[in-house]
Amino acid sequence: MQKILVLDFGGPYSQLIARRIRECHVYCEIQPAKEMTVEAIRDFAPIGIVISGGPGSVLSADAPRLPQELYSLGIPVLAICYGAQLMVHQLGGIVEAAAQTQPHSRTLTTLDTDHVLFTEHTPDAITWMCRGDMITALPQGFVATAQTKDCPYAAFCCEEKKLYGVGFHPEVNLTSSGIRMIRQFLNQVCGAEGDWTMERYAALMTQELRKKVGDKRVLLALSGGVDSSVATSLLARAIGPQLTCIFVDHGMLRKDEGNRVEAIFAQKDIHFIRINAAQEFQSKLEGVRDPELKRNIINEEFVRIFRLEAQKLGNVDFLAQGTIYPDILEVGSGYADIARSSMKDGNLPEYLEFEELLEPLRYLFKEEVRQLGRSMGLPDELMNRQPFPGPGLAIRIIGEVTPEKVRILQEADAIFTSHLESARMHQQINQYFAVLTENLTVDITGPDRTPKYTLALRAVNTDDFRTAHWTRLPYELLDRISHTIIQDVPQINRIVYDITNKPPATIEWE
Ligand code: XMP
Repeated sequence: MQKILVLDFGGPYSQLIARRIRECHVYCEIQPAKEMTVEAIRDFAPIGIVISGGPGSVLSADAPRLPQELYSLGIPVLAICYGAQLMVHQLGGIVEAAAQTQPHSRTLTTLDTDHVLFTEHTPDAITWMCRGDMITALPQGFVATAQTKDCPYAAFCCEEKKLYGVGFHPEVNLTSSGIRMIRQFLNQVCGAEGDWTMERYAALMTQELRKKVGDKRVLLALSGGVDSSVATSLLARAIGPQLTCIFVDHGMLRKDEGNRVEAIFAQKDIHFIRINAAQEFQSKLEGVRDPELKRNIINEEFVRIFRLEAQKLGNVDFLAQGTIYPDILEVGSGYADIARSSMKDGNLPEYLEFEELLEPLRYLFKEEVRQLGRSMGLPDELMNRQPFPGPGLAIRIIGEVTPEKVRILQEADAIFTSHLESARMHQQINQYFAVLTENLTVDITGPDRTPKYTLALRAVNTDDFRTAHWTRLPYELLDRISHTIIQDVPQINRIVYDITNKPPATIEWE
């Protein structure tokens, strides 16, 4: 398989660069630039190298660098922002210090449309430009291929050595058609054939899993989330009945969710075990109000139950997990799938003996995991599933969790979801849910003015779940949702819509 190496200098967009390359059907891996030796690059054997942006100045004494030889390996290089300045600096051009670091900005940029990276563009483009140190002279053999009002070297290259630099971020959507620049680099410069597809991945991984597992047994904790579901399907295809999936239903899933997960996986040719453990979880959570304590209790209980079931099965040879690439890069939301987060920190090896950990999705981005799932026939409903926290509704019920509160929230949340789905808005929102607050207010519909619950609705748009904007839902839709919930869930008489961004707030309420 053809590979691109992304050398990461710690810029905010390194993961995005890799995702864009994969979108062009080319496999790539991100490696920390500072640790990469020329030997390691040769071993990796990439058809091209992309150098990311990064904080700081190439002029500072402790600026991270790359081995000088990298530029003469004959491997095409696309260097972005910091990477571009570094290339100029290391090859004898001049970079001058900026008086002060300025934020990126959308900048009108004139492209040389005869240049290979820009042949798919018109000359006037908007780019997401880095504004800091300035390149004032190119190294020998380089020519400018784009300019802005302030910067004569917004892009440049040395065709002969296949070295390309851009002072802006083609990977960011704010650069017009930046993906085409990346595609041109991959296809026209590196000779990429687009051999990275999820169908091919499924076929290769199926073979690899069969070879590795042989006739042995594999155990997987299925949460019903996208990652563990796709891992299950891949393993089901590869080794079928040698796979045992344990699905621990903690009783704080959304309405009907446990049944839906079971309906999908119980019919596969695998050993599927559902453990209905709502009561066990509930009794452990009694009287607990602190959110972190709730999380810990749920994780511990999950491990306890999983361990019990695993012991009943006897020794397994392999343990499988739905680890994905962002988990390894440690840039995800900070929460792994419940099965994974509950069993990290050496928790598992203490009580389970297994030969090896199988992580068949280890190098895939989330979108690729979804594509892979779809290509194996998993329903869209499951593949488009928004993230759902491992502790489930327990952290969407403020304060103590009781079975009654879980039922109330499940009903209200299901109404919210069904209205968003009917309005066809659900796919445009990254996460949406209801929160049952502890706030009780007087209800004036009955004779005794019995106070009832306040429900909060939350919907956010986000790229990475680290920052988020609240979604502007139409008033009419909010009105319909409010009416239906009040009418159908008698314990709720007040509904509020959360209009805070993250930061300062978090997405969840607890
Ligand atoms: P916050 O609330 O921190 O959420 O802005 C960011 C993302 O993480 C999810 N989240 C969790 N996921 N266990 C999880 O598996 C948790 O305890 C947890 N808390 C928050 C949240 O739903 C959002 O997608």
